[in-house]
Amino acid sequence: MGLRGKDLLGLEDLTAEEIQLILDTAKPCKEILSRTIKKTPALRGKAVANVFYEPSTRTRNSFEMAAKTMSADVINVAVAQSSVKKGESLIDTAETLRAIGADVIVLRHYAAGAAAFLARHIDICVINAGDGWHEHPTQALLDLFTILEHKAQIAGLKVLIVGDILHSRVARSNIWGLTKLGAEVYVAGPPTLIPTGIEKLGVQVVYDLDKYLPQMDVVNLLRVQRERHHRAVFPSIRDYVRSFGLHKDRLKLLSDDCLILHPGPTNLGVEITPDVVEDPRAVITEQVTNGVAVRMALLYLLLAGGRKIDESVD
Ligand code: CP
Repeated sequence: MGLRGKDLLGLEDLTAEEIQLILDTAKPCKEILSRTIKKTPALRGKAVANVFYEPSTRTRNSFEMAAKTMSADVINVAVAQSSVKKGESLIDTAETLRAIGADVIVLRHYAAGAAAFLARHIDICVINAGDGWHEHPTQALLDLFTILEHKAQIAGLKVLIVGDILHSRVARSNIWGLTKLGAEVYVAGPPTLIPTGIEKLGVQVVYDLDKYLPQMDVVNLLRVQRERHHRAVFPSIRDYVRSFGLHKDRLKLLSDDCLILHPGPTNLGVEITPDVVEDPRAVITEQVTNGVAVRMALLYLLLAGGRKIDESVD
Protein backbone atom coordinates (compact mmCIF):
# COMPACT_ATOMS: atom_id res chain seq x y z
CA MET A 1 0.00 0.00 0.00
CA GLY A 2 1.22 3.54 -0.72
CA LEU A 3 -0.14 7.03 -0.50
CA ARG A 4 -2.91 7.87 -2.94
CA GLY A 5 -2.07 10.77 -5.20
CA LYS A 6 1.06 12.87 -5.64
CA ASP A 7 0.50 15.35 -2.78
CA LEU A 8 0.10 15.67 1.00
CA LEU A 9 -2.41 18.45 1.52
CA GLY A 10 -4.01 17.60 4.85
CA LEU A 11 -4.81 14.74 7.21
CA GLU A 12 -8.49 15.19 6.38
CA ASP A 13 -7.67 13.56 3.01
CA LEU A 14 -5.77 10.55 4.38
CA THR A 15 -7.12 7.22 5.59
CA ALA A 16 -6.05 5.81 8.96
CA GLU A 17 -3.97 3.24 7.01
CA GLU A 18 -2.12 5.97 5.09
CA ILE A 19 -1.39 7.88 8.31
CA GLN A 20 -0.12 4.64 9.87
CA LEU A 21 2.06 3.97 6.80
CA ILE A 22 3.79 7.36 7.20
CA LEU A 23 4.30 6.75 10.93
CA ASP A 24 5.68 3.24 10.30
CA THR A 25 8.03 4.57 7.60
CA ALA A 26 9.30 7.25 10.00
CA LYS A 27 10.71 4.56 12.34
CA PRO A 28 13.62 3.46 10.08
CA CYS A 29 14.12 7.13 9.19
CA LYS A 30 14.63 7.96 12.86
CA GLU A 31 17.12 5.09 13.14
CA ILE A 32 19.12 6.57 10.23
CA LEU A 33 19.22 9.90 12.11
CA SER A 34 20.76 8.19 15.16
CA ARG A 35 23.80 6.97 13.19
CA THR A 36 27.21 8.63 13.06
CA ILE A 37 26.84 9.08 9.31
CA LYS A 38 23.28 10.29 8.82
CA LYS A 39 22.89 9.61 5.12
CA THR A 40 20.95 7.36 2.74
CA PRO A 41 20.91 7.64 -1.05
CA ALA A 42 17.15 6.99 -1.23
CA LEU A 43 16.36 10.34 -2.91
CA ARG A 44 19.59 10.86 -4.83
CA GLY A 45 18.80 12.82 -8.00
CA LYS A 46 15.61 14.33 -6.56
CA ALA A 47 15.17 18.00 -5.65
CA VAL A 48 13.00 19.51 -2.92
CA ALA A 49 11.94 23.17 -3.15
CA ASN A 50 10.99 24.89 0.13
CA VAL A 51 8.68 27.82 -0.62
CA PHE A 52 7.67 29.62 2.58
CA TYR A 53 5.46 32.70 2.39
CA GLU A 54 5.29 32.80 6.22
CA PRO A 55 8.16 32.54 8.74
CA SER A 56 9.27 29.12 9.94
CA THR A 57 12.18 27.68 11.86
CA ARG A 58 11.19 24.08 12.59
CA THR A 59 9.27 23.06 9.49
CA ARG A 60 11.51 24.62 6.86
CA ASN A 61 14.78 23.50 8.39
CA SER A 62 13.57 20.00 9.17
CA PHE A 63 12.36 19.54 5.57
CA GLU A 64 15.83 20.65 4.47
CA MET A 65 17.52 18.25 6.88
CA ALA A 66 15.17 15.43 5.86
CA ALA A 67 15.88 15.99 2.17
CA LYS A 68 19.66 16.24 2.64
CA THR A 69 19.75 13.13 4.84
CA MET A 70 18.16 11.25 1.93
CA SER A 71 20.67 12.78 -0.53
CA ALA A 72 18.14 15.01 -2.31
CA ASP A 73 19.07 18.49 -3.47
CA VAL A 74 17.32 21.41 -1.77
CA ILE A 75 16.20 24.74 -3.18
CA ASN A 76 15.23 27.26 -0.48
CA VAL A 77 13.21 30.12 -1.92
CA ALA A 78 13.57 33.31 0.10
CA VAL A 79 10.14 34.65 -0.79
CA ALA A 80 10.91 38.17 0.43
CA GLN A 81 13.88 38.33 -1.99
CA SER A 82 12.16 36.49 -4.85
CA SER A 83 10.15 37.60 -7.89
CA VAL A 84 7.03 37.21 -5.73
CA LYS A 85 7.90 40.78 -4.70
CA LYS A 86 7.58 41.79 -8.39
CA GLY A 87 4.10 40.30 -8.52
CA GLU A 88 4.88 36.76 -9.69
CA SER A 89 1.99 34.41 -8.93
CA LEU A 90 2.22 31.25 -6.83
CA ILE A 91 1.70 29.05 -9.89
CA ASP A 92 4.36 30.89 -11.92
CA THR A 93 6.83 30.63 -9.03
CA ALA A 94 6.15 26.90 -8.70
CA GLU A 95 6.37 26.34 -12.48
CA THR A 96 9.70 28.15 -12.49
CA LEU A 97 10.98 25.85 -9.74
CA ARG A 98 9.70 22.82 -11.66
CA ALA A 99 11.58 24.05 -14.75
CA ILE A 100 14.73 24.42 -12.63
CA GLY A 101 14.35 20.77 -11.59
CA ALA A 102 12.23 20.59 -8.43
CA ASP A 103 10.35 17.31 -7.90
CA VAL A 104 8.31 18.58 -4.93
CA ILE A 105 7.18 21.95 -3.66
CA VAL A 106 6.98 22.21 0.14
CA LEU A 107 4.65 25.16 0.58
CA ARG A 108 3.84 27.28 3.60
CA HIS A 109 1.32 29.98 2.75
CA TYR A 110 -0.86 32.44 4.64
CA ALA A 111 -3.93 31.48 2.56
CA ALA A 112 -6.00 28.43 3.53
CA GLY A 113 -6.23 26.16 0.49
CA ALA A 114 -3.05 27.48 -1.17
CA ALA A 115 -1.38 24.04 -1.29
CA ALA A 116 -4.50 22.37 -2.71
CA PHE A 117 -4.82 25.15 -5.29
CA LEU A 118 -1.21 24.71 -6.37
CA ALA A 119 -1.51 20.91 -6.47
CA ARG A 120 -4.36 21.23 -9.00
CA HIS A 121 -2.21 23.38 -11.28
CA ILE A 122 1.17 21.64 -11.28
CA ASP A 123 2.22 18.08 -12.07
CA ILE A 124 4.97 17.74 -9.45
CA CYS A 125 4.27 16.84 -5.80
CA VAL A 126 3.02 19.47 -3.36
CA ILE A 127 3.36 19.16 0.43
CA ASN A 128 1.35 21.48 2.64
CA ALA A 129 3.73 22.90 5.27
CA GLY A 130 0.90 24.98 6.80
CA ASP A 131 -1.84 26.92 4.99
CA GLY A 132 -3.45 29.77 6.89
CA TRP A 133 -5.74 28.49 9.64
CA HIS A 134 -6.50 25.29 7.70
CA GLU A 135 -4.01 22.41 8.16
CA HIS A 136 -0.41 21.67 9.13
CA PRO A 137 -0.34 17.95 8.37
CA THR A 138 3.36 17.25 8.94
CA GLN A 139 3.15 18.85 12.42
CA ALA A 140 0.28 16.52 13.34
CA LEU A 141 2.17 13.53 11.93
CA LEU A 142 5.22 14.31 14.06
CA ASP A 143 2.95 14.81 17.08
CA LEU A 144 1.39 11.37 16.48
CA PHE A 145 4.82 9.81 16.01
CA THR A 146 6.07 11.37 19.26
CA ILE A 147 3.03 10.14 21.18
CA LEU A 148 3.56 6.63 19.78
CA GLU A 149 7.15 6.60 21.06
CA HIS A 150 5.67 6.79 24.59
CA LYS A 151 2.27 5.10 24.31
CA ALA A 152 1.38 1.69 22.86
CA GLN A 153 -1.31 3.05 20.54
CA ILE A 154 -3.30 6.18 19.77
CA ALA A 155 -6.67 4.42 19.98
CA GLY A 156 -8.34 5.08 23.31
CA LEU A 157 -5.99 7.87 24.44
CA LYS A 158 -7.57 10.99 25.92
CA VAL A 159 -5.94 14.00 24.26
CA LEU A 160 -6.63 17.62 25.25
CA ILE A 161 -5.68 20.39 22.82
CA VAL A 162 -5.55 23.72 24.66
CA GLY A 163 -5.55 27.28 23.41
CA ASP A 164 -6.14 29.22 20.25
CA ILE A 165 -8.11 26.53 18.41
CA LEU A 166 -9.70 29.04 16.02
CA HIS A 167 -6.46 30.14 14.38
CA SER A 168 -4.68 26.81 14.69
CA ARG A 169 -3.89 24.70 11.65
CA VAL A 170 -2.00 22.45 14.09
CA ALA A 171 -5.21 21.82 16.04
CA ARG A 172 -7.20 20.97 12.91
CA SER A 173 -4.61 18.51 11.58
CA ASN A 174 -4.21 16.95 15.03
CA ILE A 175 -7.97 16.53 15.34
CA TRP A 176 -8.15 14.75 11.96
CA GLY A 177 -5.17 12.52 12.72
CA LEU A 178 -6.07 11.67 16.31
CA THR A 179 -9.74 10.92 15.63
CA LYS A 180 -8.90 8.78 12.57
CA LEU A 181 -6.57 6.70 14.75
CA GLY A 182 -9.20 6.34 17.48
CA ALA A 183 -8.24 8.86 20.18
CA GLU A 184 -10.80 10.66 22.35
CA VAL A 185 -10.12 14.33 21.60
CA TYR A 186 -11.01 17.35 23.77
CA VAL A 187 -10.39 21.02 23.00
CA ALA A 188 -10.22 23.87 25.51
CA GLY A 189 -9.71 27.60 25.17
CA PRO A 190 -11.42 30.95 25.51
CA PRO A 191 -14.89 30.79 23.88
CA THR A 192 -13.78 33.44 21.35
CA LEU A 193 -11.02 31.08 20.18
CA ILE A 194 -13.19 27.95 19.80
CA PRO A 195 -14.63 27.70 16.26
CA THR A 196 -18.40 27.32 16.02
CA GLY A 197 -19.34 23.74 15.15
CA ILE A 198 -15.94 22.21 16.02
CA GLU A 199 -17.87 19.33 17.68
CA LYS A 200 -18.75 18.13 14.16
CA LEU A 201 -15.10 17.05 13.83
CA GLY A 202 -15.69 14.55 16.65
CA VAL A 203 -14.23 16.49 19.56
CA GLN A 204 -15.63 17.63 22.92
CA VAL A 205 -15.31 21.27 23.93
CA VAL A 206 -14.42 21.83 27.60
CA TYR A 207 -13.60 25.01 29.51
CA ASP A 208 -12.62 23.86 33.00
CA LEU A 209 -8.97 22.93 32.57
CA ASP A 210 -8.47 21.97 36.21
CA LYS A 211 -11.32 19.45 36.01
CA TYR A 212 -10.13 17.75 32.82
CA LEU A 213 -6.32 17.81 33.12
CA PRO A 214 -6.14 14.84 35.59
CA GLN A 215 -7.96 12.55 33.12
CA MET A 216 -5.65 13.20 30.16
CA ASP A 217 -3.00 10.97 28.55
CA VAL A 218 -1.71 13.81 26.36
CA VAL A 219 -2.00 17.61 26.64
CA ASN A 220 -1.07 19.58 23.52
CA LEU A 221 -0.60 23.28 24.20
CA LEU A 222 -1.01 25.66 21.29
CA ARG A 223 0.73 28.95 20.75
CA VAL A 224 -1.49 31.97 21.30
CA GLN A 225 -1.19 33.47 17.81
CA ARG A 226 -1.29 37.15 18.70
CA GLU A 227 -0.24 38.13 15.16
CA ARG A 228 -3.59 36.74 13.92
CA HIS A 229 -5.71 38.57 16.54
CA HIS A 230 -7.02 41.77 15.04
CA ARG A 231 -9.27 42.50 18.01
CA ALA A 232 -9.29 41.49 21.69
CA VAL A 233 -10.12 37.78 21.99
CA PHE A 234 -9.64 37.56 25.77
CA PRO A 235 -9.50 40.31 28.39
CA SER A 236 -5.78 40.12 29.18
CA ILE A 237 -2.81 37.76 29.09
CA ARG A 238 -3.18 37.34 32.87
CA ASP A 239 -6.76 36.16 32.36
CA TYR A 240 -5.62 33.73 29.66
CA VAL A 241 -2.90 32.33 31.92
CA ARG A 242 -5.33 31.98 34.83
CA SER A 243 -7.82 29.94 32.78
CA PHE A 244 -5.77 28.14 30.13
CA GLY A 245 -2.03 28.46 30.85
CA LEU A 246 -0.07 25.40 31.95
CA HIS A 247 2.20 26.38 34.84
CA LYS A 248 3.85 24.92 37.94
CA ASP A 249 0.61 24.61 39.97
CA ARG A 250 -1.32 22.96 37.15
CA LEU A 251 1.51 20.47 36.51
CA LYS A 252 0.48 18.80 39.79
CA LEU A 253 -2.89 17.94 38.25
CA LEU A 254 -1.38 15.84 35.46
CA SER A 255 -0.87 12.09 35.82
CA ASP A 256 2.73 10.85 36.03
CA ASP A 257 2.66 9.47 32.48
CA CYS A 258 0.78 12.32 30.82
CA LEU A 259 2.69 13.72 27.82
CA ILE A 260 2.96 17.49 27.31
CA LEU A 261 3.31 18.61 23.69
CA HIS A 262 3.76 22.04 22.13
CA PRO A 263 4.35 22.58 18.39
CA GLY A 264 6.56 25.61 19.01
CA PRO A 265 7.48 28.35 19.00
CA THR A 266 6.39 28.81 22.62
CA ASN A 267 5.14 32.00 24.24
CA LEU A 268 6.82 31.52 27.61
CA GLY A 269 4.65 32.91 30.38
CA VAL A 270 1.48 32.69 28.27
CA GLU A 271 0.34 29.16 27.31
CA ILE A 272 3.40 27.55 28.93
CA THR A 273 6.03 28.41 31.55
CA PRO A 274 9.71 27.36 31.74
CA ASP A 275 8.77 24.89 34.56
CA VAL A 276 6.55 23.05 32.11
CA VAL A 277 9.13 23.03 29.30
CA GLU A 278 11.62 21.48 31.74
CA ASP A 279 9.17 18.96 33.20
CA PRO A 280 10.14 15.32 32.34
CA ARG A 281 6.67 14.80 30.87
CA ALA A 282 7.28 17.49 28.24
CA VAL A 283 8.41 16.08 24.87
CA ILE A 284 8.79 19.36 22.98
CA THR A 285 12.40 18.80 21.91
CA GLU A 286 11.58 15.21 20.87
CA GLN A 287 8.81 16.63 18.67
CA VAL A 288 11.36 18.79 16.83
CA THR A 289 13.74 15.84 16.29
CA ASN A 290 10.88 13.62 15.15
CA GLY A 291 9.88 16.27 12.62
CA VAL A 292 12.95 15.33 10.57
CA ALA A 293 12.11 11.60 10.63
CA VAL A 294 8.46 12.12 9.71
CA ARG A 295 9.35 14.50 6.86
CA MET A 296 11.96 12.00 5.59
CA ALA A 297 9.22 9.35 5.57
CA LEU A 298 6.86 11.56 3.63
CA LEU A 299 9.44 12.64 1.05
CA TYR A 300 10.42 8.99 0.65
CA LEU A 301 6.84 7.81 0.12
CA LEU A 302 6.11 10.56 -2.41
CA LEU A 303 9.41 10.56 -4.34
CA ALA A 304 11.42 7.35 -3.97
CA GLY A 305 9.51 5.35 -6.57
CA GLY A 306 10.35 1.89 -5.22
CA ARG A 307 13.93 2.54 -4.11
CA LYS A 308 14.87 1.07 -0.72
CA ILE A 309 14.85 3.52 2.19
CA ASP A 310 18.20 2.45 3.53
CA GLU A 311 20.87 1.30 1.11
CA SER A 312 24.47 1.95 2.02
CA VAL A 313 25.95 5.10 0.51
CA ASP A 314 28.44 4.16 -2.19
N1 CP B 1 5.58 24.23 14.61
C1 CP B 1 5.92 24.95 13.54
O1 CP B 1 5.30 24.88 12.46
O2 CP B 1 6.99 25.77 13.73
P1 CP B 1 7.66 26.70 12.63
O3 CP B 1 6.67 27.83 12.37
O4 CP B 1 8.93 27.19 13.27
O5 CP B 1 7.88 25.91 11.39
